[in-house]
Amino acid sequence: MRFLSPDFNFWIWLQHLDTPDNNLNIPFEFTEANMRQVKEILSHYPSNYKQSAVIALLDLAQQQHGGWLPVAAMNKIAQILGVPNIRVYEVATFYSMFNRQKVGKYHFLVCGTTPCMLRGARDIEQALLEHLKVKRNEVTKDALFSVGEMECMGCCVNAPMIAVADYTKGAEGFTYNYYEDLTPKRVVEIVEMLRRGETPPVGPQDSSRIRSGPSGGNTTLLSDPKPPPFRDLASC
Ligand code: FES
Repeated sequence: MRFLSPDFNFWIWLQHLDTPDNNLNIPFEFTEANMRQVKEILSHYPSNYKQSAVIALLDLAQQQHGGWLPVAAMNKIAQILGVPNIRVYEVATFYSMFNRQKVGKYHFLVCGTTPCMLRGARDIEQALLEHLKVKRNEVTKDALFSVGEMECMGCCVNAPMIAVADYTKGAEGFTYNYYEDLTPKRVVEIVEMLRRGETPPVGPQDSSRIRSGPSGGNTTLLSDPKPPPFRDLASC
């Protein structure tokens, strides 16, 4: 499969490997304000079911930590919830919106499922990697951008598409925007608009698309269908 890469970044994405910025010697604590939010979140659950808050706490930790979850943050959440660390790891590794290694302030997620692949997802990813001069799951030197992969995000009719997770404003202003009907040229334009601090228009990027109609217009069902054949009742 083209999307499977043998490089280090791919393997670290699958499992935890200690790195200088992600190891147990670097502790994680929620800020005072976020600790108040932790208490508020936990108040919604009976004390014997507080582990149900794991996703909400992971999300809070990720946003506090610039869009990614170090192993120390997952352990902290396990401690708060009173569960073994593995119960937090199993949730964080299951959901691809949780990043377990550093990402850029703008994290590009290229859809890698069949309809987007058939409509040019490889070219979109290649254009991003070449323009940003990074490998997949690697962060640009200015810490602004990274490129990852996501499976189907439900916009197959507007394939190929990407989501951009924007962590520039922290927990208060987190956004997760879809850009659809992309071309390699357009995705590079989107990168440069974000770099300039602009907000590219979200959704379909091809103005000739009418809602979810096919690009280039309809090629079938252009005339009235023939009526179905029927029996000559008079000859019966
Ligand atoms: S296949 Fe890409 S959004 Fe569904």
